[in-house]
Amino acid sequence: MGSLATERTVTGWAARDATGVLAPYTYTLRKTGAEDVVVKVLYCGICHTDIHQTKNHLGASNYPMVPGHEVVGEVVEVGPEVSRFRPGDLAGVGVVVGSCQNCQPCKSNVEQYCNKRIWSYNDVYTDGKPTQGGFASAMIVDQKFAVRIPSGLAPEQVAPLLCAGVTVYSPLKHFGLVKPGLKGAILGLGGVGHMGVKIAKAMGHHVSVISSSDKKKSEALDHLHADDYIVSSDAAQMEKAADSLDYIIDTVPVFHPLEPYLSLLKLDGKLILMGVINQPLQFVSPMVMLGRKSITGSFIGSIDETQEMLEFCEKKGLTSSIEVVKMDYVNQALERLERNDVRYRFVVDVAGSNLDSA
Ligand SMILES: NC(=O)c1ccc[n+]([C@@H]2O[C@H](COP(=O)([O-])OP(=O)(O)OC[C@H]3O[C@@H](n4cnc5c(N)ncnc54)[C@H](OP(=O)(O)O)[C@@H]3O)[C@@H](O)[C@H]2O)c1
Ligand SMILES: [Zn+2]
Ligand SMILES: [Zn+2]
Repeated sequence: MGSLATERTVTGWAARDATGVLAPYTYTLRKTGAEDVVVKVLYCGICHTDIHQTKNHLGASNYPMVPGHEVVGEVVEVGPEVSRFRPGDLAGVGVVVGSCQNCQPCKSNVEQYCNKRIWSYNDVYTDGKPTQGGFASAMIVDQKFAVRIPSGLAPEQVAPLLCAGVTVYSPLKHFGLVKPGLKGAILGLGGVGHMGVKIAKAMGHHVSVISSSDKKKSEALDHLHADDYIVSSDAAQMEKAADSLDYIIDTVPVFHPLEPYLSLLKLDGKLILMGVINQPLQFVSPMVMLGRKSITGSFIGSIDETQEMLEFCEKKGLTSSIEVVKMDYVNQALERLERNDVRYRFVVDVAGSNLDSA
């Protein structure tokens, strides 16, 4: 690692094209600014968004691209005006690493909705350099966009909380859905979905899982402590759940019809879309009118909410369910994630990996 005045050379694993295959890539990080912290990456979770991005599902990918936005690291150096971190602290970095600080969302501390937000990778930083994510030996981040890791949480467990965890925590809070006794469902039991079950249960909700198969049933009921399990293709199970739910958190990452799920909502129920889907989704208007239902969406959570969610998880003893792998397995992990074969999040042990050879 260099000094405050020099650019650091780091090795990350980058996609070079829309095949999405990652391989070692060497690049430089910006010089440490006054408010920057230099983070040695320890662990980084693999989110389905990393597949959307590396495979150019949204048509806006730039290469080489080092993905990874569920980053837990050790602070190894701080700029002169950094007050929130000291070398040796653990820090978390998520999806957003910059915003304008002036617009209404920024002033309301929901900077993730700033139109000038800077993504932790596949974006351009204020210095004109491409941003690169957490599948790398180090990152530099403005202290305002890093969170502190509570001492009661293990670093590898925290990684998935930084995107998946806050992605469910934020809408539950924002839409007034933290009250105990609510009936909710998580549609799609993956990385985001399994944290949805855990967080909603910890809020005192009755939680159903709606899944595309019965493969995850016993795990959902026995390990995640969901209250009910519905296979979406089973008409009788879907019929039984009609008009019963206050909300559905929909994490399905591919096109799917909305109407079967709208019919499960009760009066004023909310369908909260999480999946990044590049095709129009459809429904007929009476499906929302008759029952005053809402279809809405939500995007990660703010830095403040992320900090709050970490403290909530520490207090409630919540952890993520993860499979820890080394970087040389990352391409297999991405393939397995895409074919729905992980319980429930891969986390790459970045510091424990040889990053230099594929
Ligand atoms: N809004 C946000 O801020 C935000 C944050 C993070 C992620 N996301 C997006 O949310 C979506 C889910 O992310 P994730 O990381 O939770 O993904 P994931 O781990 O792959 O989970 C998605 C789940 O959806 C279900 N599914 C149904 N059809 C599928 C298909 N054809 N391929 C794969 N899964 C299918 C599966 O659950 P079952 O087996 O139970 O059917 C799967 O486990 C992605 O589109 C991601 O980009 C959004
Ligand atoms: Zn994510
Ligand atoms: Zn802004």
